[in-house]
Amino acid sequence: MHKHQHRHQRNMPHVFAGRGSRIYNFFAHTVFRGMYRRLARDVAANAPQGAEVLDIGTGPGMLLAELVRIRPDLRLTGIDLSPDMVAAAARNAGPQVTVKVGDVTNLPFDDGSFDVIVSSFSSHHWDDPEAAAPELTRVLRPGGKAYIYDFRFAPFDVLDADGPRTRVRTGIPFFPRCIRLTVSANV
Ligand SMILES: C[S@@+](CC[C@H](N)C(=O)[O-])C[C@H]1O[C@@H](n2cnc3c(N)ncnc32)[C@H](O)[C@@H]1O
Repeated sequence: MHKHQHRHQRNMPHVFAGRGSRIYNFFAHTVFRGMYRRLARDVAANAPQGAEVLDIGTGPGMLLAELVRIRPDLRLTGIDLSPDMVAAAARNAGPQVTVKVGDVTNLPFDDGSFDVIVSSFSSHHWDDPEAAAPELTRVLRPGGKAYIYDFRFAPFDVLDADGPRTRVRTGIPFFPRCIRLTVSANV
């Protein structure tokens, strides 16, 4: 087994619905807030002017909320499996952002819809990363990039074994760094 082989964490719907989504939303506004600012700056540095950006597994949408603040030119969309998270994301990110319920393995978008895909701390919950990988490249435009931020044990090898991996600071004491995998659109 490869050192970074995915240890299936799988989706845990109960954690991201109802009371679970409210508790997560609370942490997103407090403990994780600075991390979303850092990740948003990292995304902003890589997003062309006016880019179409999709956040997969957006949860309470705080990364999108930060992007609205620092890059109002971007056209932002978020999806998540959990309707409660989608409702929270709509509240947190506001009317400039489109959020909908959706699964990474069956993205409700046409081919070549996005310049940039982001995803933070969601990929280790994906039930079927093998089916997610072709969906990422399908909805990316030529020249587009997906930036997958997650823990070391996320399914990076499955998503793109050759994609560059960079360590990114989170600013959170109990997990000070995460990995950013960059997946390029098919040419
Ligand atoms: C730990 S939360 C991360 C939320 C947010 N991106 C953040 O950084 O705080 C993981 C999210 O991924 C979502 N998720 C899990 N499996 C998914 C799938 N197959 N497709 C889309 N979203 C999924 C969950 O519903 C949950 O909201």
